[in-house]
Amino acid sequence: MSETTINDTSYKPTSPNSKLDFASLWEYAPAPESSANLDIKERYELFIDGKFQKPSKGIYFKSVNPANEEELTEFAEATQKDVDKAVKAARKAFEGEWSNLSAKSRSKYIYRIARMLQERAREFAIAESLDGGKPIRESRDVDVPLAAAHFFYYAGWADKLDYAFPGKTPEPLGVCGQIIPWNFPLLMLAWKIAPALACGNTIVLKPAETTSLTAMMFAELVKDAGLPKGVVNIVTGAGQTGAEIVNHKGIDKVAFTGSTTVGKIIQKSLAGTDKKYTLELGGKGALIIFEDAAIDQAVEGIINAIFFNQGHVCCAGSRLLVQEGIADTVMQKLRDRLETLIVGDPMDKNTDIGAINSKQQFETINKYLEVGVEEGAEVYQSSCSIPENGYFIRPTLLGNVSQSNKVVQEEIFGPVLTIQTFRTADEAIEKANNTPYGLAGGVWTDKGSKIFKVGKELRSGVVWANTYNKFDPTSPFGGYKESGVGREGGLHGLAAYVNLK
Ligand code: NAI
Ligand code: MG
Repeated sequence: MSETTINDTSYKPTSPNSKLDFASLWEYAPAPESSANLDIKERYELFIDGKFQKPSKGIYFKSVNPANEEELTEFAEATQKDVDKAVKAARKAFEGEWSNLSAKSRSKYIYRIARMLQERAREFAIAESLDGGKPIRESRDVDVPLAAAHFFYYAGWADKLDYAFPGKTPEPLGVCGQIIPWNFPLLMLAWKIAPALACGNTIVLKPAETTSLTAMMFAELVKDAGLPKGVVNIVTGAGQTGAEIVNHKGIDKVAFTGSTTVGKIIQKSLAGTDKKYTLELGGKGALIIFEDAAIDQAVEGIINAIFFNQGHVCCAGSRLLVQEGIADTVMQKLRDRLETLIVGDPMDKNTDIGAINSKQQFETINKYLEVGVEEGAEVYQSSCSIPENGYFIRPTLLGNVSQSNKVVQEEIFGPVLTIQTFRTADEAIEKANNTPYGLAGGVWTDKGSKIFKVGKELRSGVVWANTYNKFDPTSPFGGYKESGVGREGGLHGLAAYVNLK
């Protein structure tokens, strides 16, 4: 794969002796996780009404491993007819067995799912890394445990909904159509399915076309858990399949996570219907570093904010706003740290940055790097080696950018950080808020008063202080402006799946 390569000779590591050069001076022995015992089927069917069923048109599409461009397996393409079958199965389950169960029994099923996810954690982590390219360290330590945590958390609410909404009578909405993206396939499935089940709804879910493997393994888990048939239906396919779900008359609620472009299409097609919806869309999070911050910790925070999951994170901190007096120091430390990041095989436990999720996304990111250069950005990339095959991009910093630049305004969704400076807190807030998005942001300072000021004035659904990318099932998550509507997680996440009488 060709990549926009930037020859940059201006960078000198802090001092040759103290240079942190784990990636090349200290060769780490490879520590690959084995996928030998993972039983990936040659083909996965649709999961409808508790059974694996062939797609009506008999069409299948391939899924590749983005780290080596090899075909991994294939998934069924669900058409309008298949989606209709899934919605009908979900309706039948909603009106029958699932509604007749006591809340306590419903809760037991959700606990069972959580425990089975823990039991199968290793398989899910390996599958997630093979299908989507994320480092095994992240799928093993973040995606899978957090997914299980969501099921545990919402299992606890299932028989306590009256306490969640005191003085009101919560009722389930009915059949929920859920469409999820490729950046956190299993975790986004958990964010969607766990609260919906807890509130007594039934589900038709569609995973993203490049990362459907863990969703189909989850379908197997649902079957093994003995969940009544039709409560959870999983249909695979691309955008058209998603649109069939959104537009189906039998759907009571649409929950979508993905691009702002598709979010707008969905919002338009739902206008005038009585379907409820939540949309979790893109972001362009600002990291505001004040002069009084603990700089080394701030640098670690920046690395985590933008390079976690290759930067395929809607709440990624993709814009650094650093106070002028410390800009050079932060830049130097950041570049020293960048040199230590290991880019490569997602299955290697040493890897920090894995493969870009798909060829399409790889091309999108490289296009943005070209646009950045055209706009006059200075591009710094780490000098690490990257594999010849597969979709890999070195961690990248874009300096000399201004607020109106495309690379500052638009979501790149890759390991690319833009860098701007500011003088006063007001200037930082002004710049941070000046994008169409409002999903997440971070502030680093020693002063509590600054945290409160910035936190209050950032038009952003989440603000982290002296840390970044911290997730917990009890905490609501969601955006303002073009980052979407509604919240997921915590009590807020429950409210999105009930009618309150
Ligand atoms: P996308 O929004 O097209 O895909 C997300 C999901 O929506 C997938 O399951 C897809 O099959 C489905 N979908 C696509 N068109 C649909 C339609 N008309 N109706 C219903 N469902 C539909 O995202 P894509 O094209 O894969 O990525 C493009 C950009 O979107 C990325 O570069 C990134 O900037 C952003 N993105 C943001 C995400 C986030 O979490 N905020 C997640 C994924 C992408
Ligand atoms: Mg794949």
